[in-house]
Amino acid sequence: MEARTITAILGSPRRRGNTDTLAMEFLKGTAERGSDHRLIVPADLGISPCDGNSLCLKDGNCIIRDGMNEIYEQVLNSPYLLIATPVYFMGPPGSLKVFIDRFQAVWARGAILKTFDPDSAQRRAKHKAFAIVTAAAEEEPAMYRPTISIIKAFLNVTGFDYAGEIIATRLDEPGDALKREDLLRRAREAGGQFVS
Ligand SMILES: Cc1cc2nc3c(=O)[nH]c(=O)nc-3n(C[C@H](O)[C@H](O)[C@H](O)COP(=O)(O)O)c2cc1C
Repeated sequence: MEARTITAILGSPRRRGNTDTLAMEFLKGTAERGSDHRLIVPADLGISPCDGNSLCLKDGNCIIRDGMNEIYEQVLNSPYLLIATPVYFMGPPGSLKVFIDRFQAVWARGAILKTFDPDSAQRRAKHKAFAIVTAAAEEEPAMYRPTISIIKAFLNVTGFDYAGEIIATRLDEPGDALKREDLLRRAREAGGQFVS
């Protein structure tokens, strides 16, 4: 993985909707500073939910064989992470929650096996994350806060510093974000600052 590669996790199952639009604008900002990116779309991975078998507590690996298998190291080794997601019933869409839950295997490495230290200052200095959350409603913290909390829990387990967020509200139809110059500019500027 290149030192300046951003891994962007696109949480919406609706492709080219508001979340994708703002995420791609953010990535334009990072590209202007010389970074490249790779995309992960949980809804396209065909992954199964964690079944709570707890076998990962033995060795930090998930026994389910599917599209997640190569994802763990891709995410953990990425210096920069973007998580972009819509709010669905106050949380992330099911496919993104399934993706996050499967990182229980990494939680086991940190909390039980002590083979991975997500809190080490050395790691945190080199691993940064940014969140973009889209929603249809008016800006109302009670509506988007659960999603932010879930994203932060994921980042704590995987060892990423939370560098910032954009909460983009009043976005409903898939083309709505394209009409919001303010948001597009904010996303692009935030991308540039993220990798500076
Ligand atoms: C199943 C579902 C549940 C949703 N729940 C909420 C919600 O609780 N609060 C909200 O503000 N918007 C909610 N929305 C609207 C989306 O968050 C909004 O349309 C967002 O812009 C979709 O992003 P996308 O275009 O990237 O898919 C929901 C949409 C769907 C399809």
